[in-house]
Amino acid sequence: MIKIDDSARVSALADIEDSVRGSLIEIGPETSIDSFVKIKPAGGTGDVRIGARVAINSCVVIYSGNGVAIGDNVAIAANTTIAPTNHEYRERDKPIAAQRFMASKGGVIIEEDVWIGANCVLLDGTILRKGAVLGAGSLANREYPPYSINIGSPAKTVRYRGAGETVDFPQSSDAVLRRR
Ligand SMILES: CC(C)(COP(=O)(O)OP(=O)(O)OC[C@H]1O[C@@H](n2cnc3c(N)ncnc32)[C@H](O)[C@@H]1OP(=O)(O)O)[C@@H](O)C(=O)NCCC(=O)NCCS
Repeated sequence: MIKIDDSARVSALADIEDSVRGSLIEIGPETSIDSFVKIKPAGGTGDVRIGARVAINSCVVIYSGNGVAIGDNVAIAANTTIAPTNHEYRERDKPIAAQRFMASKGGVIIEEDVWIGANCVLLDGTILRKGAVLGAGSLANREYPPYSINIGSPAKTVRYRGAGETVDFPQSSDAVLRRR
């Protein structure tokens, strides 16, 4: 079932597919869904719930998988893929496509006031707590603390918004994000 609030703006060029397995796709008030966004029920029976005043930019792909929850005032930049599902692949003598899906790691949860940069991938089990930032080109696969700034593949916390503490950049000791 697809439920779109009357005040949401969904581009005529976006493609929101209805589920044949009963997943709910819900789009909240004043949320904007840009052209070439694809929301696809696949890889599980989770719901996709998108809150109020969320901006989902061009070419973002959201698979329902084990569920996606997006809080209010979230911004998701172009070309990001949310994929809360994994094919089972362990048996060698069966095609991956015939092995169904792995057990859920909890879906993807994005709390309010999160900013996700362009070209990110969010895997099953990702939780971006309130106010977190995910830098462009990052791969998220775990829980990220409130107001944290996270970059890389896999994304690691390097800093916090505001006057928060600084954490060593994971790949190089001399590359610590500057305090603001
Ligand atoms: C994460 C981000 C917000 C940090 O911005 P910032 O606070 O201005 O940080 P800086 O540019 O000063 O970068 C600090 C360091 O982190 C590195 N860095 C920044 N963003 C990075 C990213 N996405 N991935 C890997 N490294 C990154 C920089 O190279 C720099 O390292 P250095 O000191 O060794 O040169 C920003 O870089 C980003 O990724 N923005 C997303 C932009 C976007 O996708 N916009 C789409 C339209 S909304």
